[in-house]
Amino acid sequence: MNNWKRAVCALAGIVMLASVGACGGSRGATAGGGGVNAKNPSDVTVGISMPEQQLERWRLDGDNLKKQLEGKGYKVLLQFADNKTDLQASQIQNMANQGANFVVIASIDGTAVGPAAEAAKSNGATVIAYDRLIMNTDACDYYSTFNITEVGKLQGQYIVKKLGLDSGKKGPFNIELMTGSPTDNNAKYYFQGSWSVLEPYFKNGSLVSPSGRVPKNLEDWQSIGIQNWDRQNAQSEMENRINSYYNSGRHLDAVLAPNDAIAMGTVNAVDAAGWNYYPIITGQDAEKANVANIVAGKQTMTVYKDTRKLADSTAALIEKLVKGQKPKTNDTFNNNNKDVPSILLKPVSVDKDNVKKELVDSGYISAANAGL
Ligand code: BGC
Repeated sequence: MNNWKRAVCALAGIVMLASVGACGGSRGATAGGGGVNAKNPSDVTVGISMPEQQLERWRLDGDNLKKQLEGKGYKVLLQFADNKTDLQASQIQNMANQGANFVVIASIDGTAVGPAAEAAKSNGATVIAYDRLIMNTDACDYYSTFNITEVGKLQGQYIVKKLGLDSGKKGPFNIELMTGSPTDNNAKYYFQGSWSVLEPYFKNGSLVSPSGRVPKNLEDWQSIGIQNWDRQNAQSEMENRINSYYNSGRHLDAVLAPNDAIAMGTVNAVDAAGWNYYPIITGQDAEKANVANIVAGKQTMTVYKDTRKLADSTAALIEKLVKGQKPKTNDTFNNNNKDVPSILLKPVSVDKDNVKKELVDSGYISAANAGL
């Protein structure tokens, strides 16, 4: 794009955030006008790039979002990338080639996905980071997610309350900490939230980690990261820690597991050790198998992020942009290049006491799947 065109596009971007068409390179006339004030909703194409579909949540996210957008009459291209960064990049590129006016990206690696987001943007698409922020690039127009620091806080607060640390118990209690994938920017925020609650108890000695696997500081969070948030990786990590530090009867009081896959790996490691108890084990996502484990007393809590609401709010954001209106955001996140206008939804802490109310009564999961 030459300079004058760049300037015109920048100006248009201020007036109309989703301005597409002339700013794009290779797209056809119909698609070109589609992003804003499209005559027909069917002129609008939305690409959705999800990281994988092993984890139930991403399948639900993809399906819910597709349903919402198709309900508004838009054309939807939905792809899952099998946790492969190259595949995700080519899928996004493909969406751009097909004239996507919007691409909604839940990145596998928030940094690696940058060039693909840039390609889509220079082809005229509005780029929306979904659940995970896209890093180090200007090609990220919006970020639609849950309050990611709050998720970690809920996990930390749950541990503190359950151990009675907030009501004067001094322990010391044994806790093991893990963080999410080193490639996922969210993982840092989750840990930041948890650490803000747990660190004071490490400082006063009422929480200790016999494995010594505690980050030196917040910036060191990746040192206890579980690659790809993988259940099997988490299980191996916990088996190693259990065999090395808990095999002579030392009691493990709590495990900070940042999501349900890691919680499941932890439960499996405890089962393999043959213990007659489960430590407090946190989680996130309210996956069916994990909810059943909560009801069965194996996992202790999860953080419920209603993927239906995330799909709703993302679809509403797109609709506003299609209509040329300014969407309402309630925060910003810095991606190292810019402050990205963000919409943050509220996560909810769930344990066996409120499983029925939060998950079953709201229709998120059936009583039978919850094991109730
Ligand atoms: C999401 C979590 C999910 C994890 C693993 C994170 O970015 O926010 O909901 O459990 O990725 O897929």
